[in-house]
Amino acid sequence: MCRFCWFLSIVLAVATAGLAWKFILSGETVVASDGRTAIVLEAGERDLVLTEMRAFLEAAQKILDASVRGDVTAVAEAARAVGRAAAGPVPGSLVGKLPLGFKQLGFATHDGFDRLAMDVEALGDTAEVPERLAQLMNNCVGCHAAFRLEVGER
Ligand code: HEC
Repeated sequence: MCRFCWFLSIVLAVATAGLAWKFILSGETVVASDGRTAIVLEAGERDLVLTEMRAFLEAAQKILDASVRGDVTAVAEAARAVGRAAAGPVPGSLVGKLPLGFKQLGFATHDGFDRLAMDVEALGDTAEVPERLAQLMNNCVGCHAAFRLEVGER
């Protein structure tokens, strides 16, 4: 290959690696005033994430309430409402701004609710639900300790 082609290939490879790093791993982040990692989003994107969060909280309340009443169907319904399928499409532009650790914890949480729904139906009993929910909510606690959201143009 000609020298220039080599040069061009290397420039392209570096650019691709840089984009992959930015899009998949790091996201759009800064260190926040409280030491957490702040994810910098547009106002509408932040609204979308927070709407999903309030759905998580609502689901947790419903699951706990239904498990106390021994209502298997209501537990499964509330858990599926925040499962992977219900999470709704996340725009690619937003996915690119979320760091890898955030995405992994987010997916794991949606999957955890799906598994909870499946297991409670399979068992036909809600006895283990509070313990499972308490475990799953370690994801909420862990993510909130590590990340926050900020609105900004970067
Ligand atoms: C992948 C990371 C992540 C996971 C998992 C997560 N959260 Fe959040 N949540 C956040 C971030 C980031 C914020 C914004 C916090 C901030 O800016 O200080 C937030 C905010 C919230 C809010 C505030 C919503 C509002 O309208 O202001 C609630 C309520 C909430 N989360 C509940 C939950 C519950 C309940 C769970 C678990 C079932 C959960 N979250 C799991 C990252 C996460």
